[in-house]
Amino acid sequence: MRIIITKSTTEAIDIVSGMLLDKLENKENQVLGLATGKTMEPVYKSLVEKINHGHLNIEQHSFFMLDEYIGIPEDHPSSFKSYINQHFRNPLHLHSIQFSLPSAGTFAIDDAGEEYEKKIKQAGGIDLQLLGIGSNGHIGFNEPGSSLNSRTRVVRLTEETRQANKAQFASESVPEEALSMGVASIMEARELLMLATGTSKADAIKYLFNHHDDESCPATFLKTHQRFTLVLDPEAASKISLNI
Ligand code: GLP
Repeated sequence: MRIIITKSTTEAIDIVSGMLLDKLENKENQVLGLATGKTMEPVYKSLVEKINHGHLNIEQHSFFMLDEYIGIPEDHPSSFKSYINQHFRNPLHLHSIQFSLPSAGTFAIDDAGEEYEKKIKQAGGIDLQLLGIGSNGHIGFNEPGSSLNSRTRVVRLTEETRQANKAQFASESVPEEALSMGVASIMEARELLMLATGTSKADAIKYLFNHHDDESCPATFLKTHQRFTLVLDPEAASKISLNI
């Protein structure tokens, strides 16, 4: 695991968007796994600025989302499809065909998980997977209790996660289920890049540092990946001691 502790949130965001840009700029036909959440909003903003600044054409690349809610239509303003359209696809005028999401929507169709895994394989696998972390250590929507062998499947969201994501839903209630890539599916990406910012992530990051292969904090599984980079701002790193 490579750990980068930055001096500010801005620096952390700049490093992460720079790493994503590097793939899009210098490699051909990249398959990037993308994440949602508040943490990633400034990352996409920064990445869009960098792409526009460099007049880059990124139409050859493709993007796979980690997860999607079940129980709301895909064009619902709080769906992850709407999220990625708003923060990344629309500002760059990218084609919808470049983006894939687990097919959730109002209800999840049988085999949707297997179909999604098949689609990722057909694309050649994920080159770089971007990840955030839930305050309970979840990755994608792999809540505590998710196993190392888990694959793309229907998952039940914890109350903590539903509360954390409440702001996205105005007066509506947060869906109880989602379709999420599993831990095993995430671990198959050739490279993993996690960003955690803010004090609300400090406990999860501390736990991640001190535990290994622990189902109660699925992010701990990532530490065995050969190419896992963790970028932290000072607040997210505030409860760890590095002994260096
Ligand atoms: C959601 C997403 C995760 C994301 C997490 C953290 O649960 N499924 O992929 O990492 O939220 O979100 P935030 O950045 O808003 O704290």
